[in-house]
Amino acid sequence: MIQARRIGHATFETPDLDRAVDYYKEITGLVLAEREPGRAFLASKLGQLVVQLEEGSNAQCTGLSFEVAPDSDFDAMRRSLTEQGIASELANDSVPGIGRVLKFKDPKGTNIELFSEWNYLGKHHQVIGVGPYKLGHVAFIVDDAKKTTDFYTQVLGFRVSDWVEDFFSFLRCGPDHHTVNFLTGKKTQMHHIAFEVKDFAHIQNACELFGQKEIPIIWGPLRHSGPGHNISTYHQNPDSHTVEFYTELDQMKDETLGYFEPRPWHHDTPQRPKVWRKGNSRGGWGPPPTEAYLRSSRT
Ligand SMILES: [Fe+2]
Repeated sequence: MIQARRIGHATFETPDLDRAVDYYKEITGLVLAEREPGRAFLASKLGQLVVQLEEGSNAQCTGLSFEVAPDSDFDAMRRSLTEQGIASELANDSVPGIGRVLKFKDPKGTNIELFSEWNYLGKHHQVIGVGPYKLGHVAFIVDDAKKTTDFYTQVLGFRVSDWVEDFFSFLRCGPDHHTVNFLTGKKTQMHHIAFEVKDFAHIQNACELFGQKEIPIIWGPLRHSGPGHNISTYHQNPDSHTVEFYTELDQMKDETLGYFEPRPWHHDTPQRPKVWRKGNSRGGWGPPPTEAYLRSSRT
């Protein structure tokens, strides 16, 4: 059984590579680690690769990478995929800092790369922009959230943290409440990408930057009252992708205990994975989503 343990980086196709690089450097606060014709690689200020950009005709998320345990047997993982009818290939990709990868596609056609060997692409850079600590999660609209959730749990070892009714799943591969989300809708596409910042003061700094740069905040800042309970703020980048900065996401620090680390804003005591009903959550605060957010996330 393959066990994803951490999200590595997201790959985006973008029609305007220079514009996307500028956005991720100057607004998100990432570091341009490497640039080559048609491609760019951006790292967090701590030095981990978090975004790969590729020039192309569409603005879309085309890939995700996940770290597996250092002693993982890549040939055995490949056999396990083959047994489940999933075509894969082993490659030594040309992605900076990453060694051997096992590549295949998930049911919605996103390229998945598993890796265990990686290097920091720098150390403690001073950045302009928000400067998140890490890539936290990526959410997708898919034709069938149940089907995609089954793939991530059965093939990649994810655990279900929560469902909202039967159409929105939150899956974890480590202590963070969610690393991927799947929302049933008509058009398969990325819903949003989320970066973790250190604390609430950094959410405020992000909002100050959006104010200075006249970037509309399309939702927040707020504390989610339902799954994850994170404090979040959302805006759109130049490729019309919704980008979230968040902090204080629920943590399941011990899988055996089965509940999330207690917090004052929790709905249940203890807060365990469950199915939420739309509209029955409480304990959050902040404004409702704007029309711009609702439009961007319409399923
Ligand atoms: Fe999110």
